[in-house]
Amino acid sequence: MILHRAIAIDGPAASGKSTLSRLLSQRLNLIMVNSGAMYRAVTWKVLQRGIDPNDREAVVQALREMELECGVADLVSTIKVDGIDPGDELRSESVNSHVSAVSAVPEVRECLVSLQRDYLKLGDVVMEGRDIGSVVFPETPFKIYMDADPSVREARREVVGEVDSVAARDRADSGRATAPLKIAEGACVLDTSGHTIESGVEAAIEILRGQGFVM
Ligand code: DC
Repeated sequence: MILHRAIAIDGPAASGKSTLSRLLSQRLNLIMVNSGAMYRAVTWKVLQRGIDPNDREAVVQALREMELECGVADLVSTIKVDGIDPGDELRSESVNSHVSAVSAVPEVRECLVSLQRDYLKLGDVVMEGRDIGSVVFPETPFKIYMDADPSVREARREVVGEVDSVAARDRADSGRATAPLKIAEGACVLDTSGHTIESGVEAAIEILRGQGFVM
């Protein structure tokens, strides 16, 4: 089995991870994996079944009963739960409000981390999330931690119509016991507050050049 290379992009909500990962995927011909969508998909199913997202045992039971299918279409990761692609519902307000609780459950993380590592069998990947450089691919030399001022991140969320409190979700994601959001060892920090999308991509490519991913 040939294992491919992974670029790990971590950072808080609305730091620009998805946009950067998508553009890096297009520029460097990499599979883009949105790990947050996987946590959102599990949360969506838990809510659909009327299960309390804070009831850890019930969440674990639901996880065991659901079939998660991870794939790739046009270089972008896809996910189906019990044969259904939840689509835009992954970004609904109810999923936004409960995804931090569901993603704090160790059994959920264990299951999804394993599915995330499987992507490396398919090709070189750029994967974005919270624990990609620290837990999913700790050995990769290609790690970027993205950040931006809280006011800049709130404003970005408003532009795309997401009104949940980014700050509350970041507190939960950073404060949890298992795989909290943190700067992974060896990661290079990229603050996008003063960047345009284009200049942010150039800065990321410069970092990846320094780390030896691109010549
Ligand atoms: O990237 P996102 O905002 O779509 O992620 C949604 C939630 O999923 C986020 O609040 C925390 C969780 N998450 C996680 O715990 N670990 C990851 N690698 C990615 C996301």
